[in-house]
Amino acid sequence: MNDAAATKNELRSAPHGVEAGAPASELAIPPRLAALWKRGADFLGCPISILAGAMSWVSERNLVAAISNAGGFGVIACGAMTPALLDAEIKATLALTKRPFGVNLITMHPQLMELVEVCQANGVTHVVFAGGVPPGDAIKKAKTFAKVLCFAPAVVLAKRLIKNGADALVIEGSEAGGHIGPVSTSVLAQEILPVIRDVPVFVAGGIGRGEAIVSFLEMGAAGVQMGSRFVCATESIAHPKFKQAFIRAAAREAVTSVQLDKRLPVIPVRALANQGTEIFMETQRRVLDKLVKGEVDQLAAQLEIEHFWAGALRRAVIEGDVEFGSMMAGQSVGMVTREEPVAAIMAELIAQAGDALAARGG
Ligand SMILES: Cc1cc2nc3c(=O)[nH]c(=O)nc-3n(C[C@H](O)[C@H](O)[C@H](O)COP(=O)(O)O)c2cc1C
Repeated sequence: MNDAAATKNELRSAPHGVEAGAPASELAIPPRLAALWKRGADFLGCPISILAGAMSWVSERNLVAAISNAGGFGVIACGAMTPALLDAEIKATLALTKRPFGVNLITMHPQLMELVEVCQANGVTHVVFAGGVPPGDAIKKAKTFAKVLCFAPAVVLAKRLIKNGADALVIEGSEAGGHIGPVSTSVLAQEILPVIRDVPVFVAGGIGRGEAIVSFLEMGAAGVQMGSRFVCATESIAHPKFKQAFIRAAAREAVTSVQLDKRLPVIPVRALANQGTEIFMETQRRVLDKLVKGEVDQLAAQLEIEHFWAGALRRAVIEGDVEFGSMMAGQSVGMVTREEPVAAIMAELIAQAGDALAARGG
C-alpha cells in the first residue's frame, strides 16, 4: 500500500452520530447545524445546505436527482449542451426528483439567452451562472422566474454582482476542481464572508469533510458547494476508471495546468496529472517554437493550445480515458475513499459536522 492509500484508509473511519446510507427522510440533522445553515437551506429549498457543484458530464440527471433526493441541492451542468439537450436533461431530472435542483450555465455559451429560456419553460427554480461575469440581460431574464447564483472571485465583483441582481454568491477557491481562480478558499472566505451579508454566500473548493463545512458556516457562509466528493457516488455515471482514479488519488496529485510562456496563455484548470498533461506541455513547447520561428501567427498558435483539451473531459468521464483525457479534480479528491451512495456521503458529512459542533460544547 502506498502512502496515499494508507492515508485514505485512515480517513475511512466509520461515520458516527448518523447511520451511513440513511435515506434523507431519516437523516437527523443536528439542530445546531440546521440553525447554522438555515439561511442557505431556506434559499435552496432543501434541508441540507450543500450544493453539489455542477461538473460537466458528471452532473447529469442521475447524480443531480440523487443529490436532491438525499436532501442536498443538485445542479445540472449545462456545459456546451445545446438548448434542446438541456431541455431533455431538465425534463429527465424532473422525472427523477420532486425536490429543487439548479442549472449551471456557462456565461460564454453562444446561446446563453436561449438556455435561460429553456430553464424558464421547465420551471427551473435556481440558475447558476458560471465562467465569468454574466451579462446583465441574462441575470435580469433569469430573475423573472428563478433565484440567481453567481461566482464572485473578489469583494469588488461580489458587490457588483449583487448590484446586478445576484440573489446569492458562490466563492470558489483555487483548491477546487476544474477551471479555477488564483486565490485559495480560506483567503476568499476571510475576504468575502465578513463583508458580504446582503445575500447568502456558499463556499467552494477543497471541502471534503463536515468539520470544514462547520468552520465556513461559523465564518458566515450560508452553505457550501462540493464537487469532487460526489464524483464517486454510486449514482454518478462517471466511468469506473474515472472513479477508480479519484479513489486512488491524493490531494497533491490534483494539480493546476502549467502555462509555459505568457505569449500562449493557458486558463488554469485543476486536474489529476496524467500522460495528457505531459503531452500538453510538449504541445506548448512545439507551438511556441513554431510561433518564435514565424511558422504560425499568434491566433493560430493560441487556437492550437485552446483546442488541445477540447472534448477531453468527456473522454475521461464517459469513455474512461484516464491517460489522455482531462481528469478535472479538486484537492478534496484525497478525501474520496470509496464508491458509495449519495445518501451515505451526506450522512457522513452531517455526522462529522455534528461531532465538530458537539466538541465545541456550549
Ligand atoms: C470534473 C469536474 C467538472 C467540473 N465542471 C464544472 C462546470 O461545468 N461548471 C462549473 O461551474 N464548475 C465546474 N466544476 C467545479 C465544481 O462545480 C465545484 O465548484 C468544484 O469541484 C468544487 O471544488 P471541490 O471539487 O474541491 O469540491 C467542475 C469540477 C470537476 C471536478
